[in-house]
Amino acid sequence: MTTQNRQFLLAARPQGMVKESDFTYHEAPVPTPGPGQVLIRTTYISLDPSMRGQMENRADYVAPLALGDVMRAGGTGEIVTSNHPDHPVGTLVQGTFGMQDYVVSDGHNPPFRAFDAKIHPQQALGVLGGTGMTAYFGLLDLAEPQPGQVVVISGAAGATGSVAGQIAKLKGCTVFGLAGSDDKCRWLTGELGFDGAINYKTQDVGNELDRLCPDGINIYFDNVGGEILDLCLARIADNARVVICGGISRYNQSGEIPGPKNYFNLVFRRARMEGFIVLDYAPRFPEAIQDMLGWIEQGKLKQSTTVIEGFENLPKALIQLFEGANTGKLMVKV
Ligand SMILES: NC(=O)c1ccc[n+]([C@@H]2O[C@H](COP(=O)([O-])OP(=O)(O)OC[C@H]3O[C@@H](n4cnc5c(N)ncnc54)[C@H](OP(=O)(O)O)[C@@H]3O)[C@@H](O)[C@H]2O)c1
Repeated sequence: MTTQNRQFLLAARPQGMVKESDFTYHEAPVPTPGPGQVLIRTTYISLDPSMRGQMENRADYVAPLALGDVMRAGGTGEIVTSNHPDHPVGTLVQGTFGMQDYVVSDGHNPPFRAFDAKIHPQQALGVLGGTGMTAYFGLLDLAEPQPGQVVVISGAAGATGSVAGQIAKLKGCTVFGLAGSDDKCRWLTGELGFDGAINYKTQDVGNELDRLCPDGINIYFDNVGGEILDLCLARIADNARVVICGGISRYNQSGEIPGPKNYFNLVFRRARMEGFIVLDYAPRFPEAIQDMLGWIEQGKLKQSTTVIEGFENLPKALIQLFEGANTGKLMVKV
């Protein structure tokens, strides 16, 4: 065990696109667990779009970070020292451990969940972790997909979108994805079984949606917001469900963000638009994980990960998330 705990601290509130200089590298002594506590060594650290918002000084669904705090991040780890009878050394865990090598926990602060050694940490962080749960509950609970319905997903080649699309296929839907490169589009149709894909950077999204969805969109699972949300709102079918999962196109924008222009189509089409926070579903994660494990075992659900090696690359990796460098779940192997 090393004696230093490498950390990235929040150094500045980002202006526009997040920058490497918004973080400071720091080395602290490895913390010593007290009575009832364990020491966790992180193995993988997750990069999530929501981290950009947490760097700002505003409260939303989690408390904002103070300058100088260890950057908040989800991760996996292993208990390497234990003073807690329920959490023995060697237990694999996931939780919000931050951008650091080591963290001390009593099981509640920060909270962690143990996962079985037969689950790879990349799965625990991806398809069976926060983004997998987001796809599962966002699609199944909010949108209630029915066989034959047309589902459109933006950010479709990312962690959440790629899983949501596969679950929609499992439910018998016709699924179209939007992604930022031809390679990603080929992956969606070739590997994941999407019925079609649109490169939103090079193709006319409106024309393509008209061509692919002539009878309208029954479910739009939105990861990006902005213009793509508007184009989809203009094309919803009667009783459509628009799931607002995220709006990554706005996360690095400053100033006032324009609202959707075509929201009134919700009235004409008797449709519903709804947001959600996956953390609210935590008590139901076990049921979702059981379903997802079953689908993985049957070869019906694939997970892709983009793994960047090296703790030192964490800030760069967060920037790469917003540049679309990832296919599937983006994480850093510590
Ligand atoms: N509601 C919840 O509880 C919850 C929980 C987790 C995540 N989310 C949301 O779900 C969405 C996806 O998150 P994720 O973790 O799965 O990330 P992700 O999709 O794996 O990664 C982000 C992807 O977004 C795309 N992107 C980046 N900038 C964009 C822009 N300006 N316009 C359109 N696409 C852009 C990039 O792909 P391209 O190459 O295709 O551009 C990038 O690969 C995010 O909006 C996130 O905030 C919500």
